[in-house]
Amino acid sequence: MATILGIESTCDETSASICIDGKIYSNIIANQAVHGKYGGVVPELASRAHQQNIIPTVDQCIIDAKIHKNDIDAVAFSRGPGLLGSLLVGTSFAKAFALSKNIPLIEINHMQAHILAHFIEDPKPEFPFLCLTVSGGHTQIVKVNNYFEMELIGQTLDDAAGEAFDKTAKILNLPYPGGPLIDRYAQQGDPLRFQFPEPNVPEFNFSFSGLKTSILYFIQRNTAKNPSFVEDNLVDICASIQDRIVSILLNKLETAAKSLGIKNIAIAGGVSANSGLRSTLKERGAENQWNIFIPKFEYCTDNAAMISIAGYYKYLEKDFTTQDVAPLTRWSV
Ligand code: KG4
Ligand code: ZN
Repeated sequence: MATILGIESTCDETSASICIDGKIYSNIIANQAVHGKYGGVVPELASRAHQQNIIPTVDQCIIDAKIHKNDIDAVAFSRGPGLLGSLLVGTSFAKAFALSKNIPLIEINHMQAHILAHFIEDPKPEFPFLCLTVSGGHTQIVKVNNYFEMELIGQTLDDAAGEAFDKTAKILNLPYPGGPLIDRYAQQGDPLRFQFPEPNVPEFNFSFSGLKTSILYFIQRNTAKNPSFVEDNLVDICASIQDRIVSILLNKLETAAKSLGIKNIAIAGGVSANSGLRSTLKERGAENQWNIFIPKFEYCTDNAAMISIAGYYKYLEKDFTTQDVAPLTRWSV
């Protein structure tokens, strides 16, 4: 029996989870509404909110799992990549907990954990598989050879896919985070109404800054002619933006899959909650005879279930870390 406490605090979600023998028994997430009015995550406010949330979140996750804190065999935590102040809260808590209970401490790479969320429930992907990891801070194509043996095949050269959603949402005067709102409006709109450019980027890399600029100019040009252009056409604008972001992502993923000859294809990270990405991946999967893996909504955005499951696999390998471990704001898969 192995009972793992997982702790996530890389950005603006404080989360704790209990995993027992590879099964998730609880996954508590405290969101931070405080950032909404600033149009993005304010690092100092994020670390203060983590400080307030960490103990109640862990307490609740232990209660929900119907265990006692003395039952915990190891504590796994997100060591990075992320915001330093936020990471310090989760890391310090995990170290103190492990020290006080005299149990092993397990460091987890947050981007690997997004991918390992696919091992929470069946069907689990077979190795090797290709994962498009799309979040607020990252956009990567990763070849996953084994649980902790991952190769970065391509990545964004500028903005992440989540930023592309959030920054264009800001241009449309939608509140932060705009990704889920664009998704909601897009579902009622015509994706072919407006055409936005697909950048020409070498190899398996991505770029979203040109798209953001072209959307900004498009909105400025049309608002000059009609001040209520955005309000009058919101659902079609959102559908067209989403359609382009999704095609940029999936065209590269398809090129990479063909070139590497891999047919097990997964998506992960916050943007993998996007309805357009999920449905278009299913269509491409059918065209290419892929086995596709799409996470449950609750395991797409930041959560500690993915940290505790990753911790469980490291626990099996006795891959433990020491008390002198420090957070890493940048850390490749
Ligand atoms: O993985 P995540 O929760 O945090 C990071 O590690 O960054 O990803 C957050 C990102 C945000 O940019 C958010 O707007 C985006 O995921 N997101 C979405 C959707 N849900 C979350 N973007 C598009 N459509 C969605 N449904
Ligand atoms: Zn994340």
